Amino acid sequence: MEPDATKLVRAYLEREMALGLDAVPGAAAAQRRGPAARAAHASTPAAGVGASALPVGRAASPEPRPGRPAEGVPSALSHLLVEPAICAASSLEELRNVLGDCRRCKLCSGRKNIVFGVGDPRAEVMFVGEGPGEDEDLQGKPFVGKAGALLDRIITGGMGLGRDRVYIANVVKCRPPNNRNPEPDEIVACEPFLRRQIELVAPRVVISLGAFATQVLLRDRTPISRRRGQWHQLDGIGTSGPVALMPTFHPAYLLRTPGDKRLVWEDIKLVMARLGLEMPKRGTSA
Ligand code: URA
Repeated sequence: MEPDATKLVRAYLEREMALGLDAVPGAAAAQRRGPAARAAHASTPAAGVGASALPVGRAASPEPRPGRPAEGVPSALSHLLVEPAICAASSLEELRNVLGDCRRCKLCSGRKNIVFGVGDPRAEVMFVGEGPGEDEDLQGKPFVGKAGALLDRIITGGMGLGRDRVYIANVVKCRPPNNRNPEPDEIVACEPFLRRQIELVAPRVVISLGAFATQVLLRDRTPISRRRGQWHQLDGIGTSGPVALMPTFHPAYLLRTPGDKRLVWEDIKLVMARLGLEMPKRGTSA
């Protein structure tokens, strides 16, 4: 694709992301125009922006279960906007290799480590945060600072699970400077990796932590206070079953507003009930 066209596509997609829209009409037109147009779309560096730009689930599933990646699930824009290697990654390890020493956005210049994700690759519960902070950047692992300590208490005290029973990732894998919110071009570059992580882990429930992760996953601007405590469905994830999303408050917010921990507790109870898991006896320790 010519550089000007690339810029145009990028700007279009960034705007689309910022607006939280969920359709890219040009992509549908490219689909009708045939393989050359599709290839042009697929090769843009902006590949994988928000909208319905979701990779097709392609990993073979030895034991099908609800939510595991399915073969050939049609996903309108997946081939057009996501790097083919992301779609093709059939394990988290492969996906990490595709990410490589990532230079897809400007966050690479300030990072110390890429924070890809940790936990059980077949977890039933996946947590999604915003992006690494200082501690995470230093250690290369998500949620290891103060907010992470509180997340640990939610997982262990609130759910009776170990960190090794869940999977934890962020929308962006590199630390934004001064912990600012990730910008549209950064989300554009990184979100396809998160989407593919969700496909590959195929959890039964995704818990989005805070407004940012929730808004990216649901592609709209509804405040977290109105989203939390309600079940949502993650559209466009190429799995063989629905992936339920439960938004809740971010642990960093809870550190500042401890009075709202009880609301997170309510949200966690809904998750536990959906998974058919027993609440731990003393689950209010978060
Ligand atoms: N906040 C996040 O959203 N993610 C982390 O990994 C740490 C803090």
